[in-house]
Amino acid sequence: MLSTFFSSHLNITNVLSSAVAISSFPRFASTVPVTFQKGDQVWKDVPVDLGSNLMREAQRNGINLGGACEGSCACSTCHVYVDQEHFDKLPEASEREDDMIDFAFEPDVTSRLACQIEVTPELSGARVDIPLQTRNMVSEEDLLDL
Ligand code: FES
Repeated sequence: MLSTFFSSHLNITNVLSSAVAISSFPRFASTVPVTFQKGDQVWKDVPVDLGSNLMREAQRNGINLGGACEGSCACSTCHVYVDQEHFDKLPEASEREDDMIDFAFEPDVTSRLACQIEVTPELSGARVDIPLQTRNMVSEEDLLDL
């Protein structure tokens, strides 16, 4: 009875043509473009992976952004300024991130720690400025030029 059902309702040709049709659909984007600037260096529309964090994605794309504590929110070397429009779309910083930003080099109202920013579609088109200096809270050298 089951074989009768499959033979009458499941035609292998239909299955294959459906698979071809699905694979020809445009894929959902897995990256969004973000522009980074550090001094007079600009990296325009860098493709950053959704679901990753902004520090990891900057580093993966060869951008010189600190990450001394490897994303554990303990050093502030990944301190960045996010443009106001996109800053407003980010989830609020945790208390721990806020505390660490207070120790960052020249914090401002749009300061964030890049390791704490999850890449979401809302980040598309963001502009992220990287300070020329950073303060490393897990190093005795403290203030570093990047
Ligand atoms: S990498 Fe250390 S706080 Fe972000």
